[in-house]
Amino acid sequence: MDGASTLEKPAAGRVLMEVFGCQMNIVDSELVLGRFKGLRYAETDRYEDADVVVFNTCSVRGHAEDKVFSRLGALRPWKRERKDRVLAVMGCMAQREARDIRRRMPHVDVVAGTRDFPQLPQLVDRVRQGEGPFVVIDGEARPDIERSPTSRPRPYQAFVTIMRGCNRPCTYCIVPTVRGREISRPVDEVVDEVRELVDEGVVEVCLLGQTVNAYDGQDRGNVTLGTLVRALDEIEGLRRLRFITSHPSDFNDETFAAMAESRSLDRFLHMPIQSGSDRMLKLMRRGYTVDKFRRIVERVRAEIPDMGIGCDWIVGYPGETEEDHQASLRVCEEIGFAQSFVFKYSPRPGTKAAEEFEDDVPLDVKKRRNSELLEVQRRISLASNEARVGESVEVLIETPSRLDESKWSGRNPQHQIVVVEDDRVGPGSIARVQITSVSALTLFGEVVSVS
Ligand code: 5AD
Ligand code: SF4
Repeated sequence: MDGASTLEKPAAGRVLMEVFGCQMNIVDSELVLGRFKGLRYAETDRYEDADVVVFNTCSVRGHAEDKVFSRLGALRPWKRERKDRVLAVMGCMAQREARDIRRRMPHVDVVAGTRDFPQLPQLVDRVRQGEGPFVVIDGEARPDIERSPTSRPRPYQAFVTIMRGCNRPCTYCIVPTVRGREISRPVDEVVDEVRELVDEGVVEVCLLGQTVNAYDGQDRGNVTLGTLVRALDEIEGLRRLRFITSHPSDFNDETFAAMAESRSLDRFLHMPIQSGSDRMLKLMRRGYTVDKFRRIVERVRAEIPDMGIGCDWIVGYPGETEEDHQASLRVCEEIGFAQSFVFKYSPRPGTKAAEEFEDDVPLDVKKRRNSELLEVQRRISLASNEARVGESVEVLIETPSRLDESKWSGRNPQHQIVVVEDDRVGPGSIARVQITSVSALTLFGEVVSVS
């Protein structure tokens, strides 16, 4: 990570970043680290070496927030040990609970909200010069703050935020409150950034947005996500393009057409359904029925065969009956998702669901429903993976395998994990792999050739 190998102490100090939550937080952390480096800080992953610790936080479920509070509490002795150390908090919790954080954790020096985090490194610097503490959570929505992150952990892969915020009314979700209204970056700006990344050796780009397929490029005319897909497809050297997260109701014909015609688009679409019961979908104000969702899936599969569809589910939303849950199990089976993330409903103060409905499904019932859905998904994944044995696929190699460091782990176009053992490959190489065996989560194969 850092220069623990650098013998000299960096001019300004060392910073440690702890990231919670979604991919957007990971990218924002890279951006902030890049800015710290501009102020001559170095990165470290050891608390004892750190002069500054930054938490990038998540509010989407209560559990994520509890974890941050407990981690912040655990840093009291770290902070006490040296008076000049600085503790900073950014991200969704910073935005939502700035006052609470300062009240419960007075040793936090800087709180910077979801639109203010670009100034966090300067604020930290000012605290180190004796000013502060600082709480800034009222910045203007600016889509252009994420240009050219300079701290990408993987040189061949990059995430690019193309829009921020969410305009949807889902009753359970805190995101619109903490991230504000949707705002897109202009097409040219995104294309320039991706071009720069590809020049630096990036082969895979994932576009990020809370409702990424509502992208409008800040253009009130005809710009859609499809416009961007087409423009990025022109960039030679970009081998793989993905985008997360899509809302089923935000697709349009042009985006589908661009997806179908794209050379670089991966065969993986993350498109949460949340529930398989129309009654629940209505209560959640998701804006579609199961049948409408089904038709969108059919359309995706008709345009782009072999598209893996990833899904999120919420179990135990207020009033969810056994019948509603059985409907989710059936729909999960019927649609045949490639992947499911299942979340136990967590009331978020300030959301419509938390204000108006009692969290009335007991925790043990939520847990059971959670594992039942995961079990259905596991069975489907295993069966569909078994059908891949013998297939020859293109794999982008990423890291040593977590289970066995002598092997390599990569991803096929469906974004599934593929493990190979071959010393001709390494991080960033693209290999043709013949699948030899599978589990529910992983494909195993032999390298046929390396490009
Ligand atoms: N409780 C549980 N899960 C939630 N999600 C969003 N808000 C909540 C909540 N209050 C889930 C949704 C979303 C994913 C990112 O997190 O499934 O798609
Ligand atoms: Fe939350 Fe719904 Fe927006 Fe997704 S689409 S971020 S679930 S409000």
